Amino acid sequence: MQSLGSPAIAVLVYLLMLPCQAFIIREVLVKDSVTFPCSCTGNCSVVQWSRFIPSYTIVAKWKCLGGQNFQKRFEISGDTSRGDFSLMIISVAYNDGGSYRCSCNGETVSEVKMKVLVATVVKVQKKQNVTLPCYGDTRRQDVKDVQWKKDGGKVVLYTHANRSVTTDEAGSRFMMSVEDFLDGDLSLHISSVHLSDAGEYRCLLHDESQDGEPSTVVLEVEGPQRPIFTCSHEVIVLRVLLGSIISVCFIISLVFISNSYRSQR
Ligand SMILES: *[C@@H]1O[C@H](CO)[C@@H](O)[C@H](O)[C@H]1NC(C)=O
Ligand SMILES: *[C@@H]1O[C@H](CO)[C@@H](O)[C@H](O)[C@H]1NC(C)=O
Ligand SMILES: *[C@@H]1O[C@H](CO)[C@@H](O)[C@H](O)[C@H]1NC(C)=O
Repeated sequence: MQSLGSPAIAVLVYLLMLPCQAFIIREVLVKDSVTFPCSCTGNCSVVQWSRFIPSYTIVAKWKCLGGQNFQKRFEISGDTSRGDFSLMIISVAYNDGGSYRCSCNGETVSEVKMKVLVATVVKVQKKQNVTLPCYGDTRRQDVKDVQWKKDGGKVVLYTHANRSVTTDEAGSRFMMSVEDFLDGDLSLHISSVHLSDAGEYRCLLHDESQDGEPSTVVLEVEGPQRPIFTCSHEVIVLRVLLGSIISVCFIISLVFISNSYRSQR
C-alpha cells in the first residue's frame, strides 16, 4: 500500500508543481487582426514565437542584443522594455490557423490555439426583415439546443425539449422556427432591423459544443439613403423641365404685363 501510494502522490505533486502557463483559445475572423500575450522578464531575453501545429515554423524572433525576425504579417506589438512580447497578426490569413507558442529564453511561457473563421456577410436596409443563415444536423439525439450569439453575448436560445425560443429582448424581433429546426435549418429571423443589430453572429449547437454552418454571419445594416447626394436621371430631367416651365411662365407674364401697360397708355 505504502509502496504503491508514494509514487502516485509523487506524480500528483509533480503535476501540481508544473509551471502554470496560459493556454488560450482564440477564434478570429479571416482578415481581422489579433494579439496573443507573452511576458518575458529578465536581464537579456531571447523571445521566440512559433507555430507548432499543424507544422513547425518560427513566426517571430526577438533578441535583446539586437536582431529581430518577423514573418510577413507578424510583429511583436508589446512594450518589450517592460517584458511584454505580445504577438500581433495583422490581417489573419486562413492558413495562419493553428497552435502558437511563445518561449522566453527557451522556456514556454504561453500557448494559443487559433481557429480562423470565415464569415458570411449579410447586408440589409434598416427596418427591413432579414434572415441569418445557419444549418446543422439536428437528427442526432444529443442536439438539444441551438444558440445564436451576437458579439459573444446570447441573443436567442432555442430549447428543443420544450420547443421554446428564449430571447433577451422583450416583444422579440428575433425568431427561430421549430419546424425548420427539424429540417436542420437553424436560421435566425430578425424583423424590422435596427442599426444596432449590426455585428458578428455565431450559431452554436448543443450547449455550444458544435458550430453550425456557416458558423459566423456578419450582419451589415445600411441606414436610409440620402437623396441629397444621389440624383437619378429622372430627377434631373424633372428639374430641368420644371425650371423651363417656370421660366416660360415668367416670360409670358412679363409680356402680358408690358402689353397691358402699353394698352393703358
Ligand atoms: C545584465 O547582464 C549583463 C551581462 O550578462 C551584466 O553586465 C549587466 O550588469 C546586467 N544588468 C542588470 C541590470 O542586471
Ligand atoms: C425551456 O427550457 C429551457 C432550458 O431548460 C428554459 O431555460 C426555458 O425557460 C424553458 N422555456 C419554457 C417556455 O418553459
Ligand atoms: C417582417 O416580419 C414581420 C414579423 O414576422 C411581419 O409581420 C412583416 O410583414 C414582415 N415585413 C416584411 C416587409 O416582410
